[in-house]
Order: sequence, then C-alpha cells, then structure tokens
Amino acid sequence: MFTSKLVNVVVSKRAFSSSAANAAKVAVLGAAGGIGQPLSLLLKHNELISHLSLFDIVNTPGVAADISHINTASKVTGYVPENDGLKLALTDADVIVIPAGVPRKPGMSRDDLFNTNAGIVRDLATAAAQYAPNAFLAVISNPVNSTVAIVSEVFKKFGIYDPRRIFGVTTLDIVRASRFVSELKGTNPKDEKITVVGGHSGVTIIPLLSQSGHTFTDEELKALTHRIQFGGDEVVKAKAGTGSATLSMAYAANRFTGSLLRAIVKGEKGVIEPSYVKSDLFKSDGIEYFASNVELSSEGVGKVHSLGKLSAYEKELLSAALPELKKNITKGADFANN
Ligand code: NAD
Ligand code: LMR
Repeated sequence: MFTSKLVNVVVSKRAFSSSAANAAKVAVLGAAGGIGQPLSLLLKHNELISHLSLFDIVNTPGVAADISHINTASKVTGYVPENDGLKLALTDADVIVIPAGVPRKPGMSRDDLFNTNAGIVRDLATAAAQYAPNAFLAVISNPVNSTVAIVSEVFKKFGIYDPRRIFGVTTLDIVRASRFVSELKGTNPKDEKITVVGGHSGVTIIPLLSQSGHTFTDEELKALTHRIQFGGDEVVKAKAGTGSATLSMAYAANRFTGSLLRAIVKGEKGVIEPSYVKSDLFKSDGIEYFASNVELSSEGVGKVHSLGKLSAYEKELLSAALPELKKNITKGADFANN
C-alpha cells in the first residue's frame, strides 16, 4: 500500500516540473486573442493550475490584471515580448497551450493561414524548446494538421522531442459532433460520445457515426458528416470577416487542458481525449500524425486507440482524408526543416 503510493508520487514528480506539488504552471501563448481570453478565464477556475502565465504580442498586461482579480487561488502573470517576456512566460511551464495566430475569413481554408501561422508557431515552439523543454504542448493554431508537425520538427532539432508531449487540439470537432447529433436525435449532448478521427480541416475530419449507437438515414448521415466536417465554416461565415470560433473553442481547449492536467498532475487513469498526435495507425501510408481517441497518462499520450469497425461510408471518408493529411503534414515538416 505504502509502496504504491510512493511510486505514484515519484511518477507525478517526473511527469511535470512545477514547484507546487499538486498543481501546474500553464502558459497560454496568444492569451489576448479571441480564444486566448475566454480560455484563460476558464483556466482560472481550474484548481490543478497554480500559475496561469499569459503571453501575447499585445495587451497581455491588461488581460492578466483583469483575470487576476478572480478569487480563485492561482497566480496570474502577463507578458509581452519586451524584457524577455516570452522567456519568463515559459520558464517552468508544465503545460503550454498555443492559440496564437490569425483566424480565417470567409472563403479561406485553414491551409490559407499557413503562410502567417507557420512562422508564429515555429518561433513559439523554438522558445518552448529553449525555456520549457519538458512541458506538454497543446497546439490550437491552424492549420493544426501542419502546425503539430512544425512543433515536432522544431523539438527534434533541439534533441528534446518526446511525441507523448505534443498534441493538436481537435476537441472542438468532438464537441460539435455531439451537439449536432443531439440536435437531430433530441438527446442530451453530454450523453453523446461521438468519435471523430483524422485531422482538423474539412475532409480530414472523419466522424465515426456508425459507432454512435444511433441509426441514420443515408441523407442524415451525409448531412451530419458534412456539418461536422465544415462546422468551422458555419462560424466563420456567421462572423462575417471578424474571425472564427473563439468561445466554443475556448470551451473545448479548456476541456482538453483540464483532462491533460488530471492525467499529468493527479495521475488519473482512464482519461480519454481525442487529439491529433504522433500515431502509428497509418504509419504504413506515410502518415505520422493522426487524431483518434487517446488515453492520457502522466507522460502525456498513453494509449492511442485504434479506430474500431468502420462502415463502408467511413472507409470512403478515410480514403479521401489520408492524401490531404499527408500533404498537410509534409508541408509543415518541410517548413520547419528549411
Ligand atoms: P485572434 O486573432 O483573435 O487571436 C490570436 C492572438 O494571437 C492575438 O491576440 C495575437 O496578438 C496573438 N499572436 C499573434 N502572433 C503571436 C506571437 N508570435 N506570439 C504570441 N501571440 C501572438 O485569433 P483566434 O480567434 O484566437 O484564433 C487563433 C488561432 O486558433 C487561429 O489560427 C485559428 O484558426 C485557430 N483555431 C483553432 C481551432 C481548433 O479547433 N484547433 C478552433 C478555432 C480557432
Ligand atoms: C474551427 O474548427 O472552428 C477552427 O478550426 C477555426 C476555423 O478556421 O474554422
């Protein structure tokens, strides 16, 4: 009994480096943005966070001062690039969440963001590799299919790559899927556990509705699949040039970060969050990263779940997704290496 408790403590200490024994320093990069602000607000409520470290190129002191008045225990600090801000924001961080970068406007694909966001993510990953090499990274910035490859290649260059620590956040696809299915079926979305796999853009988003426990007509299946794949476009269109999903994304990223913290800080078992990680599932197709259900552990990625039984329709979706995903991953890796 005593021995197993001791082992747990040792494992937790190795897994994250926070000076506080039972809570983590979480850095949000891009914290003053549309996602960054509500995400930071939600994270301020998390008791597994001892220090919320907010970084952005502008406006972070104001956001940090504002959030710091909320009467929960965590410390809040805000940094801009001046005076070694990024270094200070990252030093001793256990978890780094990255929503920095530009969002889409109507008519754009996520890949159209590559030219601007790839450099932002590469530079932030470089700083993370230097100042918080043991942190867990959750990448929100689009195109996620490529930005995860960028972060991974940067970490490889620094010789600190641990694929279990790098995640592309695809939680919003799952959040949307459960909501859209519940709207159709008249159920409570909280009870809908819809598996979504692949990547995070258009045809690379593959909902496995055959595993939902519901039956759908062919028409419903096609409409639902399309809505889940292009849910982001609905928001981009409705926001009419002022951005993309921010509030639902903050909700999703808070859920993902909270799950990760339960696994790495508390050593909780059986925490499953779908995410886009280094995966062997389609290695033979030359695909290095893939989103699927991932069981989190004190080391980050624990077990990558296989996809289970797919319907003929889902097999078609997968065939359409794989070449696009491969292209996106190669683009990210090439950018980081050249
Ligand atoms: P936003 O423009 O409102 O905010 C982005 C923030 O990043 C800004 O405050 C900006 O100052 C900051 N920033 C820019 N360069 C930076 C740098 N070098 N270091 C630190 N901060 C920097 O955009 P948003 O709506 O918050 O979206 C951010 C990103 O998240 C976009 O790329 C968007 O496509 C993506 N996104 C992803 C998902 C997902 O499911 N993974 C969902 C929604 C949005
Ligand atoms: C989303 O799915 O809402 C995000 O990836 C933002 C976007 O560009 O649609």
